Amino acid sequence: MKHESAVGHVTGRAVYTDEQSMPVGLLRLWPVQAPYAHAEILSIDASAALALPGVHAVLTAADIPGVNNTGPIKHDEPLIPADRVSYHGQAVAWVVASETAIAQRAAQDVKVEYRELPACLSIEQAIAEQRFHLPPSRIVRGDVETALAASAHRLQGEVRCGGQDHFYLETHASWVSIDGEGLVQIVSSTQHPSETQAIVAHVLGLPSNRVVCRCLRMGGGFGGKETQANAFAAVAALAAQRTGRAVAIQLPRMLDMQLTGKRHPFLGRFEVGFDADGLLQALDVELVADGGWSCDLSPPVLMRAMVHVDNAYYLPHVRVVGRIAATNLPSNTAFRGFGGPQGMLVGEEILDRVARHLQLPPELVRERNFYRADAQPERNTTHYGQPVVDNHLPQLWAELKRSSDFERRRAELAEFNRSHATRKRGLAITPVKFGISFNKTEYNQAGALLLIYQDGSIQLNHGGTEMGQGLHTKMLGVAARTLGVSVERIRIMTTSTDKVPNTSATAASSGSDLNGQAVRNACLTVQARLAELAAGRLHCEPAELRFEQDQVYVRDRPEAERLSFDELVRAAYSARISLSATGYYRTPLIHWDPQAGQGHPFYYFSYGAAVSEVEICGHTGVPQLRRVDLLHDVGETLNEGIDRGQIEGGFVQGLGWLSCEELCWSAAGRLLTDAPSTYKIPTVADVPLDWHVSLYRRPAEPSTDVIFGSKGVGEPPLMLALSVREALRDAVAAFGHGGVVTLDSPATPEAIFAAIARVRAA
Ligand code: MTE
Ligand code: MOS
Repeated sequence: MKHESAVGHVTGRAVYTDEQSMPVGLLRLWPVQAPYAHAEILSIDASAALALPGVHAVLTAADIPGVNNTGPIKHDEPLIPADRVSYHGQAVAWVVASETAIAQRAAQDVKVEYRELPACLSIEQAIAEQRFHLPPSRIVRGDVETALAASAHRLQGEVRCGGQDHFYLETHASWVSIDGEGLVQIVSSTQHPSETQAIVAHVLGLPSNRVVCRCLRMGGGFGGKETQANAFAAVAALAAQRTGRAVAIQLPRMLDMQLTGKRHPFLGRFEVGFDADGLLQALDVELVADGGWSCDLSPPVLMRAMVHVDNAYYLPHVRVVGRIAATNLPSNTAFRGFGGPQGMLVGEEILDRVARHLQLPPELVRERNFYRADAQPERNTTHYGQPVVDNHLPQLWAELKRSSDFERRRAELAEFNRSHATRKRGLAITPVKFGISFNKTEYNQAGALLLIYQDGSIQLNHGGTEMGQGLHTKMLGVAARTLGVSVERIRIMTTSTDKVPNTSATAASSGSDLNGQAVRNACLTVQARLAELAAGRLHCEPAELRFEQDQVYVRDRPEAERLSFDELVRAAYSARISLSATGYYRTPLIHWDPQAGQGHPFYYFSYGAAVSEVEICGHTGVPQLRRVDLLHDVGETLNEGIDRGQIEGGFVQGLGWLSCEELCWSAAGRLLTDAPSTYKIPTVADVPLDWHVSLYRRPAEPSTDVIFGSKGVGEPPLMLALSVREALRDAVAAFGHGGVVTLDSPATPEAIFAAIARVRAA
């Protein structure tokens, strides 16, 4: 099956939130933005703005009837601040007008008096001023001090990585109308309709049953719409309640970039102990995430970084301490990998430094440190106490080394570098081990609703949202395969909180795992009812039946009588058998104690490995990605085309984060890179010249009953791009004479140039 919206995406006919047919008299919104990163709000005078024709209202904190808070975990996020500005560009009021241009014009006439306060604009400053959102988190195994002291070699270091704007093609959008009976109807580009519903209800002071949130599809979310859609839906809802009209908002790109949080920048500080073979003995590491002005999802993002700092490597003695810096910047949030990439970047940095310190090939040190299922159980258990289930990374790694011709190319590269003084090539192979499930156990549940009509046509609802990742397509596939009917019979319905309630965000790469099982469960419920009826007509037991190709027949007598699905459905209706059912699923086995930093948070792991080869110019630092080989574990894929798309797209997005996307802020805390003219996302011209992508199709271990043996694929491939960073470092190393190579992240041409200068000077 191709993506259910493939034609719509390519022709531009697929409809997004702000393109739906909306009620007449719809109003639009524009923010009044603060010109300081940190300030006290002394007064707001909207009278001049309100006098302009077309302006219907100017909303401030005083207009909120319910709770002025949209914070999803810690309730520290005013929807509209009453007395304090927390980041540059924050909306202190919203103008509601008949047209966007009018609202924008009127926003300039809202007079706000501020008293500027000193701002905190970096992780380093937050550490110096001890500004953190929460007390530190910790994960400890063994005795780090003793093991460090006993290690033959020790290295101390520091590494920073930058943030990343989501740059979904569709910016944040919501529209809200309130019907004559007071039902608030939200349409939102949100990854988490149930939370959007709940937050809007809180803000308006209503129970959740008076609010419905729907999402047809998103033009990308990438984590940026996991929580941050809530505030825009809430402002639109507030405006709708206040004016009695439908109200819509879609942020222009510049506002979207200024107002919304991004991937968390991280600072990692570490001390590592190892032996002469590069085997790790002890790691003491501190990870500090830049949370921005409010907590948002920072605690689970940080925790995912802390449980991925090991990546694929066994750390016998380890202490990971995590902190969330409180800065006067937009509130950083979920972004594909959810902290995992930042933790793994620190881990890979450490592996590379250990290898270069010992003058050993980095790939050798990497494989020596792998978790191994064939060793004693301790050596296959993570620092948070979970066994590395279904660990086949060593085999996958060996297969990729072979298929990418790694050893031969290593030798050729050395030859190239010997004979070229100003251009150097680098090669690296890196692994990915990524835990699938939400760390927070309660999120690992899902629901579905299946409706079969008398004509045999079917509507399928599930709690997940479609953001381009192909979840709807996979769910259609699961339903068609389970019911034994053609996909054309089934219409996937807009995700809606009045069809499937209390859903989790579509996130953590578990959309198809969770919703797939719920969909299958709903299908099996209805099918069991139909089977009973069919068994009577075909004179067999229900268990002997097979549903296939829109028919049902006795498995062992395929030549004998068959009933068509249509006939069976009609007969079921006549016999007064219900043709609809809900489905439900919760992931078994998992548990997690956030205080202890111990448990079994992941149902299973997804594995992958990547080989990248680059060439860099010593005069300019400009890199070229010559060849990339990816081998990624998808289990028994639910849809090969979609999984390939996720692997390729995830890799390129990771490449952007690590090599060209650089967020710059002015000294006053204003985002300078708030448009594609200054913020460089990768384009088709940045993909590898020679690119080999293969699926590692090994069914998920039988003990993990994942939907049709598949594995989550949404996020893990992003981290395959770490191989590019390590290949760039390898090329930089070729300009020097051995030893540790430091390289900033993102590794822009400037950063590469500076790194070359450092190795030359060393
Ligand atoms: N792919 C596309 N095309 N667009 C997206 O917004 N989001 C990613 C990933 N792949 C995204 C995407 C993120 S952050 C996650 S968590 C998963 O898709 C969510 O979907 P899934 O759980 O169905 O894989
Ligand atoms: Mo994805 S960052 O879990 O939305």
